[in-house]
Amino acid sequence: MATDVHRPVSRFAVHVEGLTRSFDGRAVIDALDLDVRPGEFVALLGRSGCGKSTLLRVLAGLDREIEGTVLVPRRKAVAFQAPRLMPWKRVWRNVLLGLPGKPERAVAEQALDEVGLGHRSQAWPKTLSGGEAQRASLARALVREPDLLLLDEPFGALDALTRIKAQRLVGEVWQRRGCAVLLVTHDVEEAVLLADRVLVMDGGVIAHEQTVDLDRPRDIADPRFAELRASLLERLGVDTAAESPGIESPVAESPAVKASAA
Ligand SMILES: Nc1ncnc2c1ncn2[C@@H]1O[C@H](COP(=O)(O)OP(=O)(O)OP(=O)(O)O)[C@@H](O)[C@H]1O
Ligand SMILES: [Mg+2]
Repeated sequence: MATDVHRPVSRFAVHVEGLTRSFDGRAVIDALDLDVRPGEFVALLGRSGCGKSTLLRVLAGLDREIEGTVLVPRRKAVAFQAPRLMPWKRVWRNVLLGLPGKPERAVAEQALDEVGLGHRSQAWPKTLSGGEAQRASLARALVREPDLLLLDEPFGALDALTRIKAQRLVGEVWQRRGCAVLLVTHDVEEAVLLADRVLVMDGGVIAHEQTVDLDRPRDIADPRFAELRASLLERLGVDTAAESPGIESPVAESPAVKASAA
C-alpha cells in the first residue's frame, strides 16, 4: 500500500496525515489527520465502532494495510482492554514477553514495582484480580520504555474503585515518564481528568478536539470541569439537559451515556 513510515519523529510523537483504513471496501478511517506532541496526554472518544481501536492498532504498527502517512516513535507500547497475559507464564515472564535480547528478571520487577505489583511477580496470571492483571499489562508496556504509550480502554472492565486507582496510576506514570499517551476511552470524565487534549472521532476522522486547560490534580467539582464534560457529551450526542445541576455523578456510568457513547 502507500506510505506507512514507522520511524522516529522529533517534533511530534505522532504525525498522521491522510490515513485511510478500509475493511471490505468500507473506509473506517477516512483521510484522518492527527498530531500528538512528545509528552502530551491525549484522550480519544467516539461511539462504538467508529474506528478508535483500528487507529490504535495502526499507530502500534500492528496493522499496515493502510494508505497515508503514519509517523510514530520506534519505542512505543500498547495495552489493550483485555490484559492478554499468557496463562502458562508467570507474571514477570509475561512482562518481559517479546522484549529483544535476554532481559533480566529485575527489569520486569522494576516495572511491576512501578505499578504496585512487585509482590505478585512470581504469580500465575489466573491468580490475579482484574485490576492486578490490568496493572501487569501496563507494566508490560512500561518495560518497553515507550515514547508513545497507546492505551485501548485499559480501565473498561474494572469496578469503579479499582478504576479510579488505575486512572491515578496512569496519570502518575505519565508524569514520571514524560511519554506521550493516547488513551482510548468511553468515559468522558476519565478523558477530562487525565488528558491535555480530548479528541472525538467520527466519520473516520478526528471530528472535534478540546484542549483541557485545567491545573492538575483536577477536581471534578470544578465548574470548568463540568463545563468541558458537558460540551464533550454534547459532541458525542448525549443529552445532558436531564442531569440535575450540581450533582456530580460518574456520568459514563449513567444509562444515557452508555446508550449513546458505547
Ligand atoms: N479486521 C477487521 N475486519 C473487518 N472489519 C473490521 C476489522 N476490524 C475492525 N473492523 C470494523 O471497523 C469498524 C471500527 O472498529 P473498531 O474496533 O476500530 O471500533 P472502536 O471505535 O474501537 O469501537 P469500540 O468502542 O466498540 O471498541 C467496525 O465496524 C468493525 O467492525
Ligand atoms: Mg475499540
